[in-house]
Amino acid sequence: MNLALATQAVLEELSRMRSEGVNRIYIQDHTLKDLEDLLGTGSGIEKSYETQVEVSQSNERVKAIAPLTVAEPASTEVKAQVKVEKTTPTLPPPPSFEIPDGNKEEKWEWLRKKVLECETCNAELNPSGKVVFGEGNLDAELFLCGEAPGAEEEVAGSPFVGPAGELLVKILSAMGLSREKVYLGNILNWRPRHNQAYGNRPPSREEMDFCLPYLKAQLEIVQPKIVMALGKTATDGLLGHDPKRRLSQVRGSWHEVLGLPMMITYHPSYLLHNPSKTSKRKVWEDFLLVMEKLQMSVSEKQRAFFL
Ligand code: URA
Repeated sequence: MNLALATQAVLEELSRMRSEGVNRIYIQDHTLKDLEDLLGTGSGIEKSYETQVEVSQSNERVKAIAPLTVAEPASTEVKAQVKVEKTTPTLPPPPSFEIPDGNKEEKWEWLRKKVLECETCNAELNPSGKVVFGEGNLDAELFLCGEAPGAEEEVAGSPFVGPAGELLVKILSAMGLSREKVYLGNILNWRPRHNQAYGNRPPSREEMDFCLPYLKAQLEIVQPKIVMALGKTATDGLLGHDPKRRLSQVRGSWHEVLGLPMMITYHPSYLLHNPSKTSKRKVWEDFLLVMEKLQMSVSEKQRAFFL
C-alpha cells in the first residue's frame, strides 16, 4: 500500500471512530512525528486545525481531537483534510477582577461565589451540570491542577470525584497525603460540551484562556509551595500554549508559574488508559520529586514503587 492510501485509510478509520463517539486516541510518538511530517505543506494534507492533533500525556502517545472531516482524495495525491469544527461559541474576553482584602478564607469565598455565579461559566454548562470550582486545603503545600470537570464532577460540583480523581487520591495516599491536605483545581470550571454520548472533550484554547484568571486567583490565594500540572491542558494553561511542547519532554522537571515551582506530570486519566508499570513509574517519579521538594520523608518502600 502506498503512503497516500495508507494515510487515507488512517483518516477514514479516525473518522469512523469519531462517528462512534471516540474523541481522543492514543498513538505512538514516532507515529505522530510521521503524521506531522505528512501534515506539512509538501504533503498535500492541509493542516487546517488548531488543536485537534495534540501531543498528549506522554512521548508514546498523542491525542487526536476530532471532529475530523475527511475529503475525497483527488487523483493519486493525498488530499485528505483534517478540520476542526468550532464546537464552542465565542466567549467574552477573560474576566478581569481584583480580589477584595481579607483573610484567605474570605478571599477564597469571594472568588468561589464569583465563579459559581459567572454568567459565561453557567451558560456553558450541560443541562444537568454544575460549575466546578477548586477545593481543598487553603493552606495546602501542594496545589494540583487538572484539565476540566468530567461527567461525575459536573454532577457533584466538585473536582476530581470520578475515576481519575479516585486514582489521584490513591497516588496522594501512596505519598502519605490525603485529598484534604492538598488543593485541587482545574483549568476549566465547566465540563466542555460536546455532542457525543460519552467521553470528554478537551477544552478549547478560548475556553482555557477565559477561565485562567480564576485559576490564577486561586493560586494567589492558596500560595502553595508547589504546583503540579496534571497533563497537557494544565501544562499549556499554566505555562502558555506552545504547539511544539511535548509533555514527555517537560514532565519530571521543575518549571515556574506565578513565581511558584511547578512540576508537570501525566494526567491520572492517562494512567487509566495506559496502566503499564512504565507509565506508573514515570508518574510516581514525578511525585517523588515533589515529595523531596516538600521535604517529606520518603521510605525505601515508597522509592521502589513500580520498579
Ligand atoms: N479530570 C480533571 O482534569 N479534572 C477533574 O476535576 C476531573 C477529571
